[in-house]
Amino acid sequence: MLLLENIHTVAVDNLEKAGFEVELLSHSLSEDELVAKLPGVALLGIRSNTHITERVLDAATDLKAIGCFCIGTNQVDLTAAAERGIAVFNAPFSNTRSVVELVIAEIISLARRLPEKTQRMHDGIWDKSAKGSHEVRGRTLGIVGYGNIGTQLSNLAEALGLYVIFYDIADRLAHGNARRMPSLDALLEEADVVSLHVDGRPGNAGIFGAEQFAKMKPRSLFINASRGMVVDNEALREHILSGHIAGAALDVFPIEPKAQGDPFESPLRGLDNVILTPHVGGSTQEAQEEIGYFVSTKLKNFAQEGSTALSVNLPAVQPPPLTEGGRLGFLHVNVPGVLAEVNNLLATEGANVTGQYLATHGELGYVVTDVSAPVSPETLDKLASSPHTKWLRPYTA
Ligand SMILES: NC(=O)c1ccc[n+]([C@@H]2O[C@H](COP(=O)([O-])OP(=O)(O)OC[C@H]3O[C@@H](n4cnc5c(N)ncnc54)[C@H](O)[C@@H]3O)[C@@H](O)[C@H]2O)c1
Repeated sequence: MLLLENIHTVAVDNLEKAGFEVELLSHSLSEDELVAKLPGVALLGIRSNTHITERVLDAATDLKAIGCFCIGTNQVDLTAAAERGIAVFNAPFSNTRSVVELVIAEIISLARRLPEKTQRMHDGIWDKSAKGSHEVRGRTLGIVGYGNIGTQLSNLAEALGLYVIFYDIADRLAHGNARRMPSLDALLEEADVVSLHVDGRPGNAGIFGAEQFAKMKPRSLFINASRGMVVDNEALREHILSGHIAGAALDVFPIEPKAQGDPFESPLRGLDNVILTPHVGGSTQEAQEEIGYFVSTKLKNFAQEGSTALSVNLPAVQPPPLTEGGRLGFLHVNVPGVLAEVNNLLATEGANVTGQYLATHGELGYVVTDVSAPVSPETLDKLASSPHTKWLRPYTA
């Protein structure tokens, strides 16, 4: 197992305890370096700076899985990995709490106009006044997008004494005393603070613009820590300058600088009571640790028990922990009749199937079969030589 880019040591501990031999490097590797380094590596851990191209995958003849110890997976050629039967995992939810805590901090900061106040102090001006400063208890928070982050925000906000309303296009169960709103417009009519937590589906581009800001309550607050492309920041600027929106916090932007130290341009720069942060909602030490544990567990469960749960490119199958007998993981081309082929061979051997779990994903199918005793090498050979086989792996308890 090779871990690059200073992945949290909790991942090393987790994998070493499970019996893996782990090499940890603090930096990323170039394409040429990966090509030279990867033969002999079964599991690879990367973050966003290591690019896994088709050429790298061709050279990585022993590679079984890649763990992206981050949220995004754009740095990996997912299709090429799937074609080679290499599973890719990531950590889509490990930084949920970090985002929620930032948003809670922003709600209070904006309600107290802290950005403005701290700026004046830094400018050497003592300006003590309660004007425009409010407590948040008793105010109404409108959450747009009630998924992992939206629901957790809902719970923390209620604990602070806010009333919570939410709008989601999917049918989501209300947490605590939160109220589901029938439409975005209905939410905008009631909310003192609007916080966006929608996902990045293409249809969400520009869903929040001049029309939506105009429908928000006068002197309400606006927060976006979801996706930059969702909001028209020019329209937000106009509504802040007119005083209709009393403050805003933005963590994500339609165009974000690529590298550390790059200049940042936005129509929201220089406005009063506007918090701008460089996409750090999920960036905490705790989230890094959680990501380290989450992704290393996914890799471990894949390598030792054949679980592809939450894989982003292979059919996702989550079999129960393997406590007795044997297991066969069979990744194959998704054509009719493969399951019958597996079961006929096992029946011929007289194997007692105790559980079977399967899923398909595009061109691929994956079936995990639990048997009361390990399957004979002859049967394994027959299955492995099927023209539809991508790989066949036996596991034992
Ligand atoms: N700022 C950061 O650093 C940071 C960190 C993590 C996640 N995020 C972003 O936060 C967002 C939410 O993350 P999550 O894990 O809660 O996602 P999620 O998929 O769990 O939840 C998204 C919710 O939004 C709903 N939704 C989608 N489009 C909608 C629309 N137009 N109107 C109303 N509801 C809509 C979905 O039905 C879903 O319930 C994502 O865009 C994610 O990329 C940002």
